[in-house]
Amino acid sequence: MQDLPSDRDALQALLDFHVEAGVDLALDETPHNRFAEPKPERTQAKATAQPAPSKASPASSAPSPRALPKAAASAPEEVAGMAREQARHAQSLEELEAILAGFDGCALKFSAKNLAFADGNPEGRVMLVGEAPGADEDRIGKPFMGRSGQLLDRMLATIGLDRTQVYVANIVPWRPPGNRTPTPQEIAICKPFIARQIELASPEILLCLGGPAAQNLLGLKDGILRTRGRWYTYKTEDGREIRALPTLHPAYLLRQPLQKRLGWRDFQALRRALDGRD
Ligand code: URA
Repeated sequence: MQDLPSDRDALQALLDFHVEAGVDLALDETPHNRFAEPKPERTQAKATAQPAPSKASPASSAPSPRALPKAAASAPEEVAGMAREQARHAQSLEELEAILAGFDGCALKFSAKNLAFADGNPEGRVMLVGEAPGADEDRIGKPFMGRSGQLLDRMLATIGLDRTQVYVANIVPWRPPGNRTPTPQEIAICKPFIARQIELASPEILLCLGGPAAQNLLGLKDGILRTRGRWYTYKTEDGREIRALPTLHPAYLLRQPLQKRLGWRDFQALRRALDGRD
């Protein structure tokens, strides 16, 4: 690190500046210019043309901080196949969480602090599924713990629900660095796990929070502003049909408070369905 201020207040101000600017995750101590690095050789050429790295070589003695287990570096379709195979074996939510905690196929696991598997009551009649954990969820290890979660709790309260009555999860259980949107590959790799989680929790109603959850769980092509508030059917692999309602993500509602009236309508629809009036 260069030119770091030496007094505490200045260091704190520098840290605050980075957090304000959205830099809330350190991947490495030093920056790397990846464009200046030589292109990696193809695996086969490497195996035949390169001598085995010597133990004495400084390059080989420094472990790469970005090195990922083999599974996370494999082709996404192959990893998704492994995920399906492993998720299928879970006979309970506890087993599924343990399997997911030991699954190395998603690179997000290696930048996240914690797995944010679920919160709330798995026996609840409603399961809510969001996109991916943010910084608070990553720190605590549970979904919807930050500002979005607080708004979600207030919305649930308007229809007489709280987290002792609903079960909460995400389509991706590890935080993407810097809160970026999970890539389609990351979602595809994690999908067998959320599918099995829904199957094992077996809720009466699935509430999809935001476009990515609605599109990936319900196979919808349209954006959330078109699909929200309408009832769809989610089919589990074992053939159960679950009523599903897409609604706006609470993070979106925090940014667009005027849209809260739409979210409110959807929650009223959820209440009516729970009361057998819809
Ligand atoms: N946004 C999500 O989609 N999930 C969380 O757990 C938190 C914020």
